[in-house]
Amino acid sequence: MQHYIQESKDRFINELLDWLRIPSVSTDPQYKDEVRRAATFLQEKLLKAGVDTAEIHETAGHPIVYAEKIIDAHLPTVLVYGHYDVQPADPIDLWTSPPFEPVIKETSLHPEGAIFARGACDDKGQVYMHVKAFETMMQNNTLTCNVKFMIEGEEECGSDNLEHFVKANQEKLKADVILISDTSILANDTPSLEAGLRGLAYLEVTVTGPNRDLHSGVYGGAVANPINVLSEMIASLKNEQGHITIPGFYDKVVTLPQAEREALAKAPFDLEAYKKDLAIDAVAGEEGYSTMERASIRPSLDVNGIWGGYTGEGAKTVLPSKAQAKISMRLVPNQNPEEIADLFTAHFKKIAPATVKVEVVPHHGGHPVVTPVDSVAFKAASKAMEESWGKTPIPTRGGGSIPIVALFEQELGLKSVLMGFGLDSDAIHSPDEHYGIFNYMKGIETIPLFYKHYADLMANGQ
Ligand code: BES
Ligand code: MN
Ligand code: MN
Repeated sequence: MQHYIQESKDRFINELLDWLRIPSVSTDPQYKDEVRRAATFLQEKLLKAGVDTAEIHETAGHPIVYAEKIIDAHLPTVLVYGHYDVQPADPIDLWTSPPFEPVIKETSLHPEGAIFARGACDDKGQVYMHVKAFETMMQNNTLTCNVKFMIEGEEECGSDNLEHFVKANQEKLKADVILISDTSILANDTPSLEAGLRGLAYLEVTVTGPNRDLHSGVYGGAVANPINVLSEMIASLKNEQGHITIPGFYDKVVTLPQAEREALAKAPFDLEAYKKDLAIDAVAGEEGYSTMERASIRPSLDVNGIWGGYTGEGAKTVLPSKAQAKISMRLVPNQNPEEIADLFTAHFKKIAPATVKVEVVPHHGGHPVVTPVDSVAFKAASKAMEESWGKTPIPTRGGGSIPIVALFEQELGLKSVLMGFGLDSDAIHSPDEHYGIFNYMKGIETIPLFYKHYADLMANGQ
């Protein structure tokens, strides 16, 4: 297999570059046809790789690509989930090369080169590893499990229609485990496996003061400015210790057992390199927790966008009527996104001064997940990484969210294995997103080893 992968390397890369040229931005209706083109591209490549069937499943939004290869009903079945949609490329001027014209460039963390394009890492590059790993197993007669692929086009905008698809297709989606590559490893020489993901509560707030924009000289000082008020309200959501002040916010937070905290602390983490990568002089966060903990096992609250008043060229003196913000909270077990959204709403309304009116609208959310580290599938993933890296992967917790993972558990009764290959520094959702050639090829090598170990362990009644 190694030989086949090495000999196909250039083609494997070029096919991915072709796919990355299709701007499958799911949130912007302008790209609707491109999103479909990306789905069709994937369907064709899956068929070519050797699946029995590959279909484009229509939804009320963007299509889901579903494909399967059933070799033997007695063998275990792996359901591969991923997404072919991407985040918008904005702000486009901050890219050093156009987001949908992929190029390979070297970086300090990727001396073998990295593919720069929107979706290179999140998640087209990581999905395509599965297609090429599958092709490799087919060509070498080494496929040891049945495989089902469910690749959606709406992950970046809330997976609205996947929920319906999953509920309506329980039989079709029957499997033993879900395999997902949409997360990160610690470093290219430090493999790791995420054993959990944070959940998400996302809300939009509007603070309204006077019924119209006012002259800031005529009224300034006498009428509350909604932007000032909103800023004060936001600032009060955290105290000096970096704790979130919403009453009840931490009530359901599960504290990690000391032993697990210590295990996490053993993972190599270079704070200086972290700061240098981000060009910051200091990190921030909740007192009493390390940077790694702050971004994985602890909840957080962030303003994602804030606007109001005059933001055009030059100076316009105005006391605006409205100020708005998008606020997200990352959640950890066992926080519940709906409950947290309610707590936030009640608190935000309560702290509003009499000078303004406040409106809070919730957006999509997601439950946090923990995946067992003693399951057959986790062990198989761990063995696969150990074999391809020559190092045992470290179990970590991811800071990002894949809301649909909790739904898979609830609707299909299936746990997921989060075997991602990206780096946190790969700039997903940012300008200059990239994915290392090393990571891409390592994924293609490691995935077949997962199938091998998973079938072995399942056959041995592990
Ligand atoms: N692949 C990411 C999530 C991720 C990234 C998990 C890195 C762990 C490590 C996913 O595509 C994503 O961006 N999720 C969104 C969820 C949202 C759009 C509902 C997120 O985390 O913001
Ligand atoms: Mn993703
Ligand atoms: Mn994403």
